[in-house]
Amino acid sequence: MLKPVDATTTPAWATLTQLHQELEPDLRSWFDSDPDRAERLSYELGDLFVDLSKNLLTDEVRDALVALAEQVDVPGRRDAMYAGEHINVTEDRAVLHTALRRPATDSLTVDGQDVVADVHATLEKIYAFARRVRSGEWTGVTGKRIETVVNIGIGGSDLGPVMVYEALKPYVQEGLSARFISNIDPNDCAEKVKDLDPETTLFIIASKTFTTLETLTNARMARDWFLGALQAKGVPTEGAIAKHFVAVSTALEKVEAFGIDPVNAFGFWSWVGGRYSVDSAVGTVLAVTVGPEAFAEFLDGFHTVDEHFATKAPAENVPMLMGLLNVWYRNFFKAATHAVLPYAQYLHRFPAYLQQLTMESNGKSVRWDGSPVTTETGEVFWGEPGTNGQHAFYQLIHQGTELIPADFIAVANPAHPTKDGDKDVHELFLANYLAQTAALAFGKTAEEVRAEGTPEAIVPARVFAGNRPTTSILAPALTPSVVGQLIALYEHITFTEGIVWGIDSFDQWGVELGKKLALEIAPAVGGDEQALSTQDASTRQLIARYRAERRDA
Ligand code: F6P
Repeated sequence: MLKPVDATTTPAWATLTQLHQELEPDLRSWFDSDPDRAERLSYELGDLFVDLSKNLLTDEVRDALVALAEQVDVPGRRDAMYAGEHINVTEDRAVLHTALRRPATDSLTVDGQDVVADVHATLEKIYAFARRVRSGEWTGVTGKRIETVVNIGIGGSDLGPVMVYEALKPYVQEGLSARFISNIDPNDCAEKVKDLDPETTLFIIASKTFTTLETLTNARMARDWFLGALQAKGVPTEGAIAKHFVAVSTALEKVEAFGIDPVNAFGFWSWVGGRYSVDSAVGTVLAVTVGPEAFAEFLDGFHTVDEHFATKAPAENVPMLMGLLNVWYRNFFKAATHAVLPYAQYLHRFPAYLQQLTMESNGKSVRWDGSPVTTETGEVFWGEPGTNGQHAFYQLIHQGTELIPADFIAVANPAHPTKDGDKDVHELFLANYLAQTAALAFGKTAEEVRAEGTPEAIVPARVFAGNRPTTSILAPALTPSVVGQLIALYEHITFTEGIVWGIDSFDQWGVELGKKLALEIAPAVGGDEQALSTQDASTRQLIARYRAERRDA
């Protein structure tokens, strides 16, 4: 097995350590003394304009970060990923989400199989199904058109589809809508189905493994609700499941065992990680609601960024540079969190989506050869759309004691251009996007505060230190392609960080223990004394309290 390079022993790491010690961040003077700074540190990535100039970045730091990428061989590992090598070492799997968005004219043979041909055969099957639902050719058991598609999944089988559905709402066909059931909290399913008409509802059960407790429980509850609701309307249920339940999975035999006709199942492959799967059959709910053409554009958006990441030298490679900047902040400034702040209400689920992508990927303490990591890994990613966040948590980003690097994302063209009197509301929105990064970068000095006539006693409270790093991303509009580009950008940022840290960004063993314990604890919660006796004192006490409080058990 190829050993990970220990980044902390590289010459570039030593240079970065030195540069960090000597760095006196002063974005005001860096901009004043260097008129080309904004232009020099801005990049084009497909439709995305990416301005890195408000980061705590000098040319020396950038060169050292680029050298670090070379010294830990980010380009080599990237090439290995694209080629289908088993870089997911702990699961012995290829990592080929980039193959999901390759054009049909490409081919890539992995383990004796042309994976691009497989991808496009599945896409054609999904698109044909989506067209039938959208045109009304596919009907429910009573001949009515499908109006609501309910995706049941969790983690990667939910967060991506929800986020993209919300992002592409303006592209959703009139008369169609989607809902998403994910949580095993029974209230989630109950709330999502309660006002549905079973005759016009289609369920998509999405689970890579088709063993996930939450998803299979919700699928059974949805099936029970569906059959009960049909019976309540006096509709015969024979043959109804086949018209109202389809599945997405890599485990098609388990789909069949659940009672779904394999003809109505869309497959994908073990080399697609759950959190990298929205562009696989897991996106079926999207192909149905926004349509095959928009879905194909979405995939093209990913591919544009994949090409850039695959071919650009590190110094010009935007995802690589952004990943390296994250390393700079995480390891040298000890920034434990990273905010992603979309100035686009349609992207309101993007930070939540990124939490799984980044934290399930890079929240690791051992490297891919099992040795301990040698530095901090995995920032906490978080965020909410602007301007809402401005009235909630931005105070801490502006004046708190922690350094919180932040990515600001906006689009030039709103889906709904609107005026408030003679003011363009989108321009007011964008003014906020711009004002925040300027305030964070340049702050406000005590002299400036005093010059406003502020009483001396409250001057310190009104000072903004500045030098709070941000990256600004601006896209022309929130098109399907742009959404694909944004996702691919963050996938490759995550990859770059993972390689620097020497970790396997594609496994997720950290979620296993809790899953196993939940199954062991469940009988105790239900009153099994033997199971209860094996629990710790705190868990026993909580179960006893629960059982005393629960009224209908
Ligand atoms: O949370 C662990 C995990 O395995 C994720 O990686 C995955 O996206 C999610 O569970 C759902 O898994 P599945 O699609 O197999 O139901």
